[in-house]
Amino acid sequence: MDWRITTFTELTRDELYDVLSLRNQVFVVEQRCAYLDVDGRDKASRHVMAHEDGRLLAYCRFLPPEESCPDWTIWRVVVAPSARGRGLGHDLMRRAIAAIQQAGGTSIHLSGQAHLRAFYESHGFTVVSAPYGERIPHLSMRWTEGDAGVGRFYAGGSQSPCDG
Ligand SMILES: CC(C)(COP(=O)(O)OP(=O)(O)OC[C@H]1O[C@@H](n2cnc3c(N)ncnc32)[C@H](O)[C@@H]1OP(=O)(O)O)[C@@H](O)C(=O)NCCC(=O)NCCS
Repeated sequence: MDWRITTFTELTRDELYDVLSLRNQVFVVEQRCAYLDVDGRDKASRHVMAHEDGRLLAYCRFLPPEESCPDWTIWRVVVAPSARGRGLGHDLMRRAIAAIQQAGGTSIHLSGQAHLRAFYESHGFTVVSAPYGERIPHLSMRWTEGDAGVGRFYAGGSQSPCDG
């Protein structure tokens, strides 16, 4: 397995095409969700990729804190359908968290599909919101360095400002 973490400008054209293909194949087609996957955040993100025999099998991106969100954020966690159940999802999360820590990050937010709560909890994330989203329920989840398990519950249990 060939793992690589890049900035947007370091992505080759082929890599960018494969990333957008996989995200669309899974989040738009497989999960039947018509939404704007190309959301303007890719240029400021780092991109975590695993290739095997030239095929992109696992991907996520992460972003440093923004004005609207004090935490680092992890988005678009995805493993190709043919490669699921091999531990790539866990490896992807470990690598993204380690890269954020290496960059000095001490808190991470993600918006996780509710049925994957245990998966994210196994990486130290804690639920900090009530479920939200109609078709696919989501949970705001938060990770803090050295204090895994202690999250902030957003006012009224609503979704976090980082979910935008
Ligand atoms: C979620 C996903 C990334 C997991 O990748 P994977 O490589 O299959 O996961 P792993 O083999 O590393 O296993 C991860 C764990 O999550 C669990 N898991 C995987 N898919 C699951 C599902 N649909 N529902 C509940 N748990 C699930 C596995 O059982 C495993 O649990 P374990 O460690 O207790 O055995 C992958 O299924 C995927 O890409 N799903 C579609 C995209 C998606 O919904 N992404 C999440 C956005 S929030």
